[in-house]
Amino acid sequence: MDSRARPYRSVLYIPGSRERALEKAKTLPVDAIIFDLEDAVAPDEKANARNLLAEALRDGGYGARAQIVRINGFDTDWGADDLAVIATAKPDAILLPKVDSAEDIAALAKRLDALSGTTETAIWAMMETPLGILNASDIATAPWMAGFVMGTNDLAKDLGTRPHPTREPLLTALQTCLLAARAQGLACIDGVYNAFKDEAGLEAECTQGRDMGFDGKTLIHPAQIEIANRVFAPSDDDIALAERQIAAFDAAMAAGQGVAVLDGSIVENLHVETARATLAKAAAIASLEHA
Ligand code: COA
Ligand code: MG
Repeated sequence: MDSRARPYRSVLYIPGSRERALEKAKTLPVDAIIFDLEDAVAPDEKANARNLLAEALRDGGYGARAQIVRINGFDTDWGADDLAVIATAKPDAILLPKVDSAEDIAALAKRLDALSGTTETAIWAMMETPLGILNASDIATAPWMAGFVMGTNDLAKDLGTRPHPTREPLLTALQTCLLAARAQGLACIDGVYNAFKDEAGLEAECTQGRDMGFDGKTLIHPAQIEIANRVFAPSDDDIALAERQIAAFDAAMAAGQGVAVLDGSIVENLHVETARATLAKAAAIASLEHA
């Protein structure tokens, strides 16, 4: 599946050092997993987590869930070893943290290229530094790029913003990355919601992210999965409206008209494209084992 056709409603971070969570993930109804070697793993555990994770990926059992590994940056003691060990286990993608520029991605692509048998591995970028956001459109065009993940905690820290219920201080950055991702056909996943026991807050933030155009939300706890899967999937009403729009447009075309009117609103070619995309997304979700 290409990166845009695949559902990414729920993208769960799992610390690479947590054996029990690595096992549990095989049963969780998530669309994608970010196996983390960066901030969720303490320095003393980095080497151990890297080997544990490579073994878990080789053993498999994650089904259709996209497998993305967040390595440490190459400016740390661990990044190069992370890539060398993890690339041999052939995850779907390597996620590079704190990407500032397209050169960071090009450098990773060069390293991946030098490792044999890694041509199936795509590159994703954490968008979480002020410089990275400013360079988003360049980063999106770098080789092997397939997706952006918003690192809203790091970004808020660097910007000096305070938490805000409607995320106003972050909206420009979120939209800049969405624009850059969509211009190149990349997946774009919203940042995490830290208060993992606050279901109403999570639902509100998922709804905001969905309405902005994100494919899904990064999650930190299994309790967040159901809400993200539901909010980012087309609802029954969305599907029914899409079907009616297509039918109305087909009928208008058959009658020799270029546009249709449905429930008092115009339906043009472009609305039909959106309606078809909604139905395709619903079908892709329905075809998942864990749907
Ligand atoms: N992925 C998979 N399983 C997870 C999980 C995760 N991210 N977080 C918790 N679980 C599992 C636990 O292992 C536990 O499973 P069990 O019942 O089989 O033992 C179950 O879900 C309930 O966990 P709970 O006790 O409620 O949470 P916790 O106190 O163990 O962990 C956190 C809370 C926040 C520390 C943990 O969820 C976590 O580490 N999340 C990821 C953080 C991360 O990756 N951050 C980096 C990016 S922001
Ligand atoms: Mg970060």
